[in-house]
Amino acid sequence: MLGLKLPTDPRWVNIVEKNIEDILTDHAYCEQKAASTAISLMVSFPEYTDLVKEMIALVKEEISHFKMVHDKILERGWVLGRDRKDDYVNALLKFFPKGGSRTTQMVHRLLYAALIEARSCERFRLLSEKLQDKELAEFYRKLMVSEANHYTMFLGFARQYGDRKEVDEKWQQLLDFEAEIMKDLSKKETIHG
Ligand SMILES: [Fe+2]
Ligand SMILES: [Fe+2]
Repeated sequence: MLGLKLPTDPRWVNIVEKNIEDILTDHAYCEQKAASTAISLMVSFPEYTDLVKEMIALVKEEISHFKMVHDKILERGWVLGRDRKDDYVNALLKFFPKGGSRTTQMVHRLLYAALIEARSCERFRLLSEKLQDKELAEFYRKLMVSEANHYTMFLGFARQYGDRKEVDEKWQQLLDFEAEIMKDLSKKETIHG
């Protein structure tokens, strides 16, 4: 599914289930970061009109997801906690060398975004299928459906703007690298941990 090379260990859901407040907090920031990634792509690459149009729509969608998660936190009687570091994303962002042409940098950022979307979507699907808390499972099912298009959209832009063959090779290498990172994860109550 989603091109990922290593599925998440389903026992991760048992860890999550013991700490719903932590997963919702982490998730809220994932949505906020997805919105800010869309903004920063518009700032960096304004002349790519197709991309800018899609990013405008994406900012709205991701910030509405942030609201949904934030509302869920309030509904359950909690207050949104502070952001914490995302070991998965930090490890992932080391893959491509810094620098290169503007197009190269854009392709790398689009591929990172595609992968983070794909993994998030896989995690949401797992939560929607395995959570005992049926209300929350349904919440994740709906989110999974709306996230599913994001990965293909980012990958599509990378292929459209970069050299197709080169982009496909980089994508496969990034997927292999991500699978290695994943071997040490699935142990924490965070969306990517
Ligand atoms: Fe989202
Ligand atoms: Fe997304």
